[in-house]
Amino acid sequence: MFEFEIQKQHTASRARLGAVTTVHGTIHTPAFMPVGTQATVKALSPEDLKDCGAEIILGNTYHLYLRPGHKLIEQLGGLHRFMNWDRPILTDSGGYQVFSLNDLAKVTEDGVTFRSHLDGSLHLLSPELAVEIQQALGADIIMAFDEPTPPDASETQTLKSLELSTRWAARCRQAHTRAGQTLFGIVQGGMFKSLRTESARQTIDLGFKGYAIGGLSVGEEKGVMLELAEHTAPLLPEEAPRYLMGVGTPDDLIDCVKMGIDMFDCVLPTRNARNGTLYTSRGKVNIRNARHRSSDLPLDPECACYTCTHYSRAYLRHLYVADEIFAMRLNSLHNIAFFQTWMSGIRRAIADGRPLDWRFPESEDSGNNGS
Ligand code: GUN
Ligand code: ZN
Repeated sequence: MFEFEIQKQHTASRARLGAVTTVHGTIHTPAFMPVGTQATVKALSPEDLKDCGAEIILGNTYHLYLRPGHKLIEQLGGLHRFMNWDRPILTDSGGYQVFSLNDLAKVTEDGVTFRSHLDGSLHLLSPELAVEIQQALGADIIMAFDEPTPPDASETQTLKSLELSTRWAARCRQAHTRAGQTLFGIVQGGMFKSLRTESARQTIDLGFKGYAIGGLSVGEEKGVMLELAEHTAPLLPEEAPRYLMGVGTPDDLIDCVKMGIDMFDCVLPTRNARNGTLYTSRGKVNIRNARHRSSDLPLDPECACYTCTHYSRAYLRHLYVADEIFAMRLNSLHNIAFFQTWMSGIRRAIADGRPLDWRFPESEDSGNNGS
C-alpha cells in the first residue's frame, strides 16, 4: 500500500499540503526526515523521536549492509522490529554513501566496487544488491541505486553519469518485488539544467511512485542548488511525492517547499546538536558560549520540547562543556523538535493559505556563521 494525497495546493506558491500513506502509517507533507544511518537517530530513542513529532526516519543501505548485515536484520524481523520504530522508514540506496565514504570507489556498468571503511574488505554494490538489501531491511520507501555526479564534472561526464543512473534505475525496477514497499527514482544531471531535464524525462519514463532530486548540496553554491531544484521540481509529475535529498537549512526547507518539494532529509539538526549548535526561534545558539554560563532561561522559550521545558541554558552548557553524553540527547531532542515544529509551521501556513514569507532569524550569537 502506498498513497499520496494532495490535500491543498498553496495559492501563493507551488507548495502542496499532503499525506503519504504506507503500511506503517501516514506522513504529513511537506515532511522532514531525521537521519538514522545505523538503525538509530544518534542519541535518540524512538519514543524521543515520536515526542519530537517525527513521522518517518531515513536509514542507510550502505552502513547496514556492512554492519550488522542486512541478512541479520532480516532474520531478526526487519529494520522496524530491529530498531523498535513502528512508523515509516525510507532507506537510501547506498549510491551516495559509497562515494562519499570511499575515495577509491570504482564504477563499472555492473555497479560500484569499493573497500569497506570498516575493515577494508572488497565489495560490489550493484542495483540488484542495493534492492536486495533494501528488501531485506523492509523499509516502506526505498531508493534506486544511482551515481551522484561530482559537482565539478563536465557536461559530457554528467550526461554519461545520468544515463548510467537511468540504466541502474531500470535494473532496480526489475529487481524490486517486495509488496508493501515503494521504490522511488532519483533525478541526477549535475549542475546542468538541460541534463536535469533529460534525467527527469528518463526517470519519469521508467515510471515510479515517487521521485527524488539527487546530486544537490554536494558543495555547489547555495544559489546554484536552489536554481537547480527550482528547475527540476516542476518537471516531475504533480501527483507523485517529490523528495529533495540531503537538504537542508530551515530557510532551504521554506524555499524548496515553495517549489513543490514534499520530502527532505538532512543530518544538519542531529550533527549540529552534537557539536553544540542549536536551532531556536531566535536564531542559532552556540551552547558552548560562556554567555550561557549562569542563564536560568530555557534554550528556546517558544519550544515545547522536553529539553526546553525541563532544563536551563546553564545546565545544557555545563553538560556540553563537561562532555557528558546526556548533552547529546538533550541537544538532539531539541534540534529535531525544532525542525519538526518548523515543518508543521510550514504545513499550517499552506493549510491556512498564508504566504511562506518568514525566514530563520539571524544567529542569536554574534559572529556565528555557516549553516
Ligand atoms: N543523498 C543526498 N544526495 C543523494 C543522491 O544524489 N543520491 C542518493 N542515493 N542519496 C543522496
Ligand atoms: Zn526545545
